[in-house]
Amino acid sequence: MSLPSVLVTAATGKTGRRIADRLTDLGYPVVPASRRAEPSFDWAEPASWSPALHGVDAVYLCYYPDLAAPEAPALVEKFTAAARDAGVRKLVLLSGRGETNAQRCEQIVADAGLAYGIVRASWFAQNFSEGNLLGPVLAGTIALPAGTVAEPFVDVDDIADVAVAVLTDDRHNGRTYDVTGPRLLTFAQAAAEIATASGRDVGYLPITAEQFHLALVAEAGPDYARLLTDLCVEVFDGRNASVGDGVRRALGREPRDFADFCRQVVAAGAWPPPVTASAADR
Ligand SMILES: NC(=O)c1ccc[n+]([C@@H]2O[C@H](COP(=O)([O-])OP(=O)(O)OC[C@H]3O[C@@H](n4cnc5c(N)ncnc54)[C@H](OP(=O)(O)O)[C@@H]3O)[C@@H](O)[C@H]2O)c1
Repeated sequence: MSLPSVLVTAATGKTGRRIADRLTDLGYPVVPASRRAEPSFDWAEPASWSPALHGVDAVYLCYYPDLAAPEAPALVEKFTAAARDAGVRKLVLLSGRGETNAQRCEQIVADAGLAYGIVRASWFAQNFSEGNLLGPVLAGTIALPAGTVAEPFVDVDDIADVAVAVLTDDRHNGRTYDVTGPRLLTFAQAAAEIATASGRDVGYLPITAEQFHLALVAEAGPDYARLLTDLCVEVFDGRNASVGDGVRRALGREPRDFADFCRQVVAAGAWPPPVTASAADR
């Protein structure tokens, strides 16, 4: 008997890529969805959703840019209805910890009348190696409006493991998993661990939300800058300064530690050793 097919949104992103790889390895037919997929899937183009949903049993729903975006609840509701109309049986939502809008989206998915699971994640460790913070790490300064708040940075490989478990095993239906790392770290401590592992000079610079917004507008445009700044103001007030038990509850094992994540990134070459004066002279 063939396994049911799974639509994976954000299939080229940090979580989606890993989930698609794991499902493929397990023998599940995967329908990758993103703007670069064929046919293209675009959150901003609801007409592009139906072809992707055709014949699919389960969906990994990772909204981009973020469930905190003002339009996210309406789009998630519309997508959820389209999935139900297309005969989808199960939705697994990637959510963000402590975000008001994300929690509205969780409720929409829970109320959709389908089997569902919620993977509610803390800040990704991989933001430092594959996301917005890779450039700042390589430049040596992680500037954020996060003060001295502590985060239980989660390894995206753990998110992928939990999401795949929920997608493929109905015993997880109706559950919400608070998926975090095993340890609270301030951004200064995270920077210090990255510096130790990589041998690079990396530090944390606490800045105000206004300074962060101003710097981001030039780089990412006004809409994304506003979204990310508002998100930082919302979640960096200490509300997420606790460790969740989602990895243990879903998988029966401990989450990966930030130090292991750092060692893995160094081994993969994403934070190359600094160029010393003598090496540069050669
Ligand atoms: N980063 C965190 O720390 C964190 C923490 C908790 C929750 N989350 C959640 O994770 C999600 C975002 O993850 P991320 O920022 O790490 O991004 P990501 O998944 O690494 O990358 C974005 C993905 O979305 C696709 N995409 C971009 N624009 C799209 C569009 N208009 N329509 C369809 N697909 C599109 C991209 O592929 P194409 O370029 O091919 O379209 C890519 O596959 C959000 O839902 C957020 O709430 C993030």
